[in-house]
Amino acid sequence: MKVSAFASQTAKAPLTPFNYNLDAIGVNEVTLQVIACGICHSDVHMMDNDWGIAQFPIVPGHEVVGEVVEVGSAVSHLKKGMRVGVGWQRSACLSCPECLSGKENLCDANEGVIVGHHGGFASHVRVDSRFAFPLPEGIDSLHAGPLMCGGITVFSGLRQAGMTSGQRIGVIGVGGLGHMAVRFAKAMGNSVTAFTTSASKVEELGRMGADEVIVTEGGRLVKKPSKPLDIIISTVTAPLELGAYLEALGADGTLSMVGVGSETVTLPLMSLLGKRRRFMSSPIGGRGEITQMLNIAETFNVKPTIEVFPMAQANEAIDRVRKNTVRYRAVLKV
Ligand SMILES: NC(=O)c1ccc[n+]([C@@H]2O[C@H](COP(=O)([O-])OP(=O)(O)OC[C@H]3O[C@@H](n4cnc5c(N)ncnc54)[C@H](OP(=O)(O)O)[C@@H]3O)[C@@H](O)[C@H]2O)c1
Ligand SMILES: [Zn+2]
Ligand SMILES: [Zn+2]
Repeated sequence: MKVSAFASQTAKAPLTPFNYNLDAIGVNEVTLQVIACGICHSDVHMMDNDWGIAQFPIVPGHEVVGEVVEVGSAVSHLKKGMRVGVGWQRSACLSCPECLSGKENLCDANEGVIVGHHGGFASHVRVDSRFAFPLPEGIDSLHAGPLMCGGITVFSGLRQAGMTSGQRIGVIGVGGLGHMAVRFAKAMGNSVTAFTTSASKVEELGRMGADEVIVTEGGRLVKKPSKPLDIIISTVTAPLELGAYLEALGADGTLSMVGVGSETVTLPLMSLLGKRRRFMSSPIGGRGEITQMLNIAETFNVKPTIEVFPMAQANEAIDRVRKNTVRYRAVLKV
C-alpha cells in the first residue's frame, strides 16, 4: 500500500510531502486510514531530535484517529470500518511482568508510533492492533486524537500520583496536556489551581473550571497558592523552580512531572523530607488506563479545545505550537 505523508528529512527541517510503501501486514497488525491527527509537543521534540532517538525521514503524528482498512490474520477484535484511536505507543511485548500487569507503557520492548516507524501526518498508519482503541461513540473524531497521547498522559500522571476526588490539584503549563489536566481533574471532582506563564489564558481558565490561576514568570513561582495542594502535575519542558513548587504541596503531596526535558534536576531534599512529599515522573498510560480514560472523557464530556488545520498546513500548525499560540491543541484533518 502506498502512503502519502509529510516528513522532516533532517532534524529541525520543515515538513515536506513524502511517499512510502507499507510492507505486507503482520498477523497482529492493523492499518488505519487517517481521519485526523493531533499535534503533541513531543512531535516537535522528535522533529528537532531533542531526545536523540529520531530516525529521519520522520513522519510525525501520534494522536491518530483512523478507520480500520486492513487487519492481520490473527486480529479478531477489530474489523474493517471501525473507528479507532492510537497514541504514542504502537506495540509492546505483552508478556513481561509490566505488560502482564497492565503497565504496557513501562514495557522494555515498547515501541513508539514515530520512533523508527512512520506516524499520523499521513494518509495511513500501521500499528499493532492491541494498541488501536475503539473510540466511544460520544467522542468525535477531531476531539479524540488529543486524548490518545496528551489526555492519557495527564490522566495517568494524575491517577498514579494518587488523584481521586475532593483533592486540590495543581497544573503547571496550560498547553495541550495542561488544559486537559485541568478538565480531567475538575470533571473528577477536584479543585484546580493552574500555573501559567500566559496572562492571556486566565479568563479562559476560569471557563475551563480552574478555581485559582497563578501567573508565573517562566519557571519562577512568584505567588503561593491560597491552600497547600495535594498533587501538582507539570506539563512544561522548560526548567522550573522545583523547590518552590514542592513547598506549594501539603503533607504527603506529590509533584508529578510529565513534561520532561533533557536536563538534570536538583531537589531540596529537606522540602521532601519535612512533609513526606514525593517527586515522580510518568510516561503516557497503560491500555487499561486508556480505556478507562476514554470512558471517563465520554461520561463527563471531557474534551480538548482544538484548532483544526488541513493536513497540508502542517508546517503552519507546527510553527504555532512552537510559538505557544495554539489554543489549546492543534489537530490536522485529512
Ligand atoms: N510524559 C509523557 O508521556 C508525555 C506525553 C506527551 C507529551 N509530553 C511532553 O509534555 C510537554 C508538553 O506537551 P504539550 O503538547 O502539552 O505542549 P504545549 O501544547 O506546547 O504546551 C506546553 C505549555 O508549557 C508552557 N510553557 C512553554 N514555555 C514555557 C516556559 N519557558 N516556562 C514555563 N512554561 C512554559 C506553556 O503554557 P503556559 O502558556 O500556560 O505557560 C505551554 O502552553 C512536552 O515536553 C511533551 O514532549 C510528555
Ligand atoms: Zn504525545
Ligand atoms: Zn512487555
